[in-house]
Amino acid sequence: MTTKGTALVTGASSGIGAEFARQLAAQGHDLVLVARSAPALEALADGLRARYDVRADVIVQDLSAPDAATRVAGECAARGITVELLVNNAGFGTAGQFARIAPEREHDELMVNVVALVGLTHAFLPGMLDRVAGGVINVGSTAGFNITPYFATYGASKTFVLNFSLALWSELRGRGVKVLAVTPGPVETAFFDRIGTRKAAIGARIATPESVVASALRAYESDRGYVVPGRGNLAMAHLMPRRPRKLIALIGRLVTRQVADELTPSVAR
Ligand SMILES: NC(=O)c1ccc[n+]([C@@H]2O[C@H](COP(=O)([O-])OP(=O)(O)OC[C@H]3O[C@@H](n4cnc5c(N)ncnc54)[C@H](OP(=O)(O)O)[C@@H]3O)[C@@H](O)[C@H]2O)c1
Repeated sequence: MTTKGTALVTGASSGIGAEFARQLAAQGHDLVLVARSAPALEALADGLRARYDVRADVIVQDLSAPDAATRVAGECAARGITVELLVNNAGFGTAGQFARIAPEREHDELMVNVVALVGLTHAFLPGMLDRVAGGVINVGSTAGFNITPYFATYGASKTFVLNFSLALWSELRGRGVKVLAVTPGPVETAFFDRIGTRKAAIGARIATPESVVASALRAYESDRGYVVPGRGNLAMAHLMPRRPRKLIALIGRLVTRQVADELTPSVAR
């Protein structure tokens, strides 16, 4: 028996998104699962229906498409689905020497990490405000707190997610709708395969998707605005000096250049 309304999770075909879907289904939410990998989404949906007796819809959509948010919202409307909780989780990273990363990949990264996230928020937030209920969880990263040489576009995309989320959280105070940014450090998912090296974890402790999602859902319930799962990540996010910014950028480069050495090795620095 469902009482908690429908949660739409992007990037639900693996990793953190699949775990959001599992934990939200366990709480009694119906689910809309969005990503490109239809078989993985269908398998997850089947499992959630069987185990938790919830409705689980699949929408196969490439979120780098310019009209992705409109298509997803249109599909929900066509199926009579009201989205109570939007989890903008889909995303991926690029790393290495900026000039040697394929521009098309970085374009898609910004479309998924930023443009689709804003578009889906535009699509579903007005309904939440009308109903004075629900909210949005955006998946950022600890990278979003820092200046990230060799992750220039990824880090900046996650800074966008953090600041965008907190701006909305502030705007919506007292309106009955929650907004949360969850900013994990490294998490054990396919993220590192996609980025091309486990060195992208930069030596930090690697968390499980289970712990990250549990922390996010607790923070969402208490409308905390943002949460940094894990004590080490929390310290990194809050205790690292922010200025002088050029010095911080130069120190950051020393920390992350091992990634550039592995992914784009031949360029002299
Ligand atoms: N793992 C980490 O260390 C870490 C740390 C901080 C933040 N994050 C963030 O956590 C989020 C989830 O990543 P993850 O760690 O769970 O990695 P993951 O296992 O690789 O999952 C990424 C998800 O995003 C989806 N996605 C990627 N490109 C897409 C596209 N063009 N259209 C639709 N969906 C797309 C993927 O689905 P399809 O391939 O099926 O489309 C997949 O479901 C990302 O925003 C990531 O930046 C991860």
